[in-house]
Amino acid sequence: MELKKAVGIKAADYIESGMIVGLGTGSTAYYFVEEIGRRMKEEGLDIVAVTTSIRTKEQAEGLGIPLKSVDEVASIDVTVDGADEISDDFQGIKGGGAAHLYEKIVANHSKKVIWIVDDSKMVEKLGQFPLPIEVVKYGSQQVFNRFETKGYKPTFRKHDDGSLYLTDEENYIIDLHLGQIENPAALAIELDGMTGVVEHGLFIDCVNTVLIGSVDGVTVKEANR
Ligand code: 5RP
Repeated sequence: MELKKAVGIKAADYIESGMIVGLGTGSTAYYFVEEIGRRMKEEGLDIVAVTTSIRTKEQAEGLGIPLKSVDEVASIDVTVDGADEISDDFQGIKGGGAAHLYEKIVANHSKKVIWIVDDSKMVEKLGQFPLPIEVVKYGSQQVFNRFETKGYKPTFRKHDDGSLYLTDEENYIIDLHLGQIENPAALAIELDGMTGVVEHGLFIDCVNTVLIGSVDGVTVKEANR
């Protein structure tokens, strides 16, 4: 938790008054949102935010952060979000918190995207973390079967009581247990083309800057895009 807190607070250095800021989702983004709330209250930071989930919206509202919907802003200056895995070439898996649909919409509308992670999320190649796929309920078993046929080892995401997990859009999540993804860009195109798939958790050529928390402090890596 301390590493996540350290990168969350550090990421707030990138935020200045007048900006429109995308607020990510998850236990690392949580600390960023808390720090934004603190700076607004104690330092007079003046921003408007766009949120990526109901959870983050509720947190931001509780902190008194002014919000707009993604459709109300011409563009977002900076979005700060967590990630589940980041490869050496700056591709990412997101959606461990099932918010990757809104997160991708917000990221695609942002001039700059910053991911904040602890060093356990940095990998050579993506795929150890199960790849989240948001699917519409109707025909979801058919989509599941197609994944199985392809050897993608799908599982429906469930709560502890066995009920199916629902996203903010009331869709299901299927997690693919791929082990290693040799060509994430090609897989993203394949998944984009599958009927019934709403959005997958591969974020290709998306991030600009990564803040990595480790016991030695926070390291900044630039994707140079
Ligand atoms: C939610 C996400 C999160 O950013 C990702 O799961 C990382 O979460 P955490 O910071 O809690 O490890 O993509 O959909």
